[in-house]
Parts: sequence; C-alpha cells; structure tokens
Amino acid sequence: MAEVAAIVLAAGSGQRMGPGHGDKVWADLGGSPVLRHTLTVFQHAASVHTIVLVTREDLRARSEALIVDVGLTKVHAVVGGGATRRESTRNGLAVLARGRFDVVTVHDAARPFIDERIIAEGVALAREHGAAIPVIPVSDTIKRVSGSAIVDSPTREDLRAAQTPQAFRLDLLVRAHESADDTATDDGVLVERLGYTIRAYPGSVRNIKITVAEDLLFARALLAT
Ligand code: CTP
Ligand code: MG
Repeated sequence: MAEVAAIVLAAGSGQRMGPGHGDKVWADLGGSPVLRHTLTVFQHAASVHTIVLVTREDLRARSEALIVDVGLTKVHAVVGGGATRRESTRNGLAVLARGRFDVVTVHDAARPFIDERIIAEGVALAREHGAAIPVIPVSDTIKRVSGSAIVDSPTREDLRAAQTPQAFRLDLLVRAHESADDTATDDGVLVERLGYTIRAYPGSVRNIKITVAEDLLFARALLAT
C-alpha cells in the first residue's frame, strides 16, 4: 500500500493569544513545548509513515534542534510556512511525492492532545472515501450575526465543531489547493468547494486547539488527567 504523510502546521504567530506569549506552539506544556507533544504522537502513530513540519523561518533552527533532541525520525522535511494557514499547507504539500503517498493528514501543531485513534480513523476513511474530518458536537447555541444583530440560529443538533487532523487523498487535496479561493480557514472547506462530500467522524473533547491564553491553562490541567 502507498504511504501516509502527516503535515504538521506550526508556522502561525498565535495573535489571539494576546501579547507576551511568544508563539503558542512553543509555549510550555508540562516542561516541554506544545509542538513536542504534537510531533511525538505522530512519531508513534503506526498509520503515519512520514511527517512534514511547517515552521516559521525564524524558528526553523529551533524546530530542527527539537527534532534531533527528541529523536523524531519520521520528520523528513522542515518547510517554511506562508502568510496564511492555507499557504503553509501548500508549502507542505509541495514536498510530497505523488507516487509515494496516497493519503495526507493535515494537523494543527496547536492541538497537542491528538491521539492515534483519531489519526488512524481519518486515514482509513480518507483512503476509502477521499476525505475525512474529526468533529465534536457543539455545546453552545451558535448564532449567525450581522454586525450586532442576530440573523440566524441554526439547529444545534446539526452543528459540529471541526478538529484536525483532516485526512485526504493526496491528489484531491492538491487539486483543492489549486483553486484561487483565499477565504477558507481549513483544508476541508477547499475540498467541499470542489463538490466532495467529506466524511465526519468522532473527534475528541480533549483534542482542543490552543487559541487564546485561557486554552493554555486548560491544556496544562488536561495534561494532568
Ligand atoms: N499556521 C501555520 N501557518 C500560518 C497560520 C497558522 O502553519 N500562516 C498554523 C498554526 O501554527 C497553528 C495552526 O495553523 O498550529 C492553526 O492555526 P491558528 O490556531 O489560527 O494559529 P495562529 O494562526 O498561529 O493563531 P492566530 O490565528 O490567533 O494568529
Ligand atoms: Mg490563524
């Protein structure tokens, strides 16, 4: 069978964390950086053969040192990121040989509590159906607003929060990234716009994304459980 590549996206700047945090993927989580936790899960995941790490150029040396220190032998390339998450994904895709890999799974480095079950299920579903995304139910009622006016309240039962890793057949994701649309906040949106039906499957409430400063406090508490 062809191989599976994971693209781990760590090239953001964590603006929503607020000032004074440095970049969130390098924040301390129980004595090591968030990024180390994330990469270690992929290193041990039997369903993944190769990891491509996308990092900021100014943090490349630090990333490469981490890979050596931790012995992350599956990392086969460290690639510079782009101005948007989408460009960063595209830079990661650019180093993947089409003949060697059939499935690619794209993950936010800022989700350190990813687990092997979520990775493996996504890979298997993508191989069979083309694309798969882990989701969880939403607890809040979600409103659509226009300025300060509430204009719509979609039925909560129909809503899910999308997580990563998002897994795709490599040819499908490459094609999705060829479109000119720059408004997509994740890879799934690009694939949906090609007309593909993506499989949703259960993610995990632990698989949080560290986005605001409070998330880091929550992550430190989660680590202890
Ligand atoms: N990311 C990336 N390249 C970018 C932007 C984001 O690789 N140009 C990565 C981030 O490092 C993160 C993941 O994509 O691991 C999810 O993005 P997000 O949570 O939005 O992180 P940031 O863009 O860093 O944060 P913010 O939007 O608050 O600035
Ligand atoms: Mg962002």
